Amino acid sequence: MFLIFPDPASIADYVSAVLVDKINNKPDVVLGLATGGTMEPVYARFVEQARRQQLDVSRLTSFNLDEYVGLSAHHPQSYGAYMQQHLFGQLPFDASRLHLPDGLAADLDAHCQRYAENIRQCGGIALQLLGVGGNGHIGFNEPGTPFNSRCHVVQLSEGTRQDNSRFFDEPATVPASAITMGMQDIMEASEILLIATGEKKAPIVAEFHRQSATEALPMSMLKQHPRARIILDDAAASLLPDEIRHQRLAANG
Ligand code: F6R
Repeated sequence: MFLIFPDPASIADYVSAVLVDKINNKPDVVLGLATGGTMEPVYARFVEQARRQQLDVSRLTSFNLDEYVGLSAHHPQSYGAYMQQHLFGQLPFDASRLHLPDGLAADLDAHCQRYAENIRQCGGIALQLLGVGGNGHIGFNEPGTPFNSRCHVVQLSEGTRQDNSRFFDEPATVPASAITMGMQDIMEASEILLIATGEKKAPIVAEFHRQSATEALPMSMLKQHPRARIILDDAAASLLPDEIRHQRLAANG
């Protein structure tokens, strides 16, 4: 289940190639997308490769995992703005097929329900990209979120708000809540790639390895998924047992 690479750049090469392949094989594929620092090199590489190959991205559909409550898609720290900057604004996508939760929806619960239904009506997600929080969250599903949850509003933990304050000028302005796809929405994706890079993620990756699936560690749900891969750089893999880390060494001779 683990794929270990030397650094974030080699992960970006690998994941970008997977995305290009999926889109070439099925131009109207449905993708599940994540934001965050981990994804930046992945999207940068994908944009480069897609431009070089003149990949047709106009028919694909995407659903982002999450968005802050209270921020419009134009707010510079919103995930809508992140996606525009790193991916959507870089290639000729059909904007009507790109979905993000609406942090300004008047009725948030009704909006969440429609968001999850919309994913199913589009045929479900073929490939879901995930990052992981230092506390093991996926999307904004914090520890303790039921595995059967659907898209919902979540109060962000203090740790997550602190982690994400690096993207905000004023730490106090990090929103207190967000909309996230639920655990079950994520689990229904046909294939999942979770990426973790850097030594700060090493402890949670090691805990994932030790634990069986438990709601206390959201990332651990992926142990129950038939086609989930955990993609790590050496730094994020550094606290895994030697026999797992050596698989990369063996694979690379
Ligand atoms: C973002 C998301 C989050 C991040 C996670 C890691 O859409 O769903 O779960 O993937 O917080 O963030 P970074 O990559 O910034 O460490």
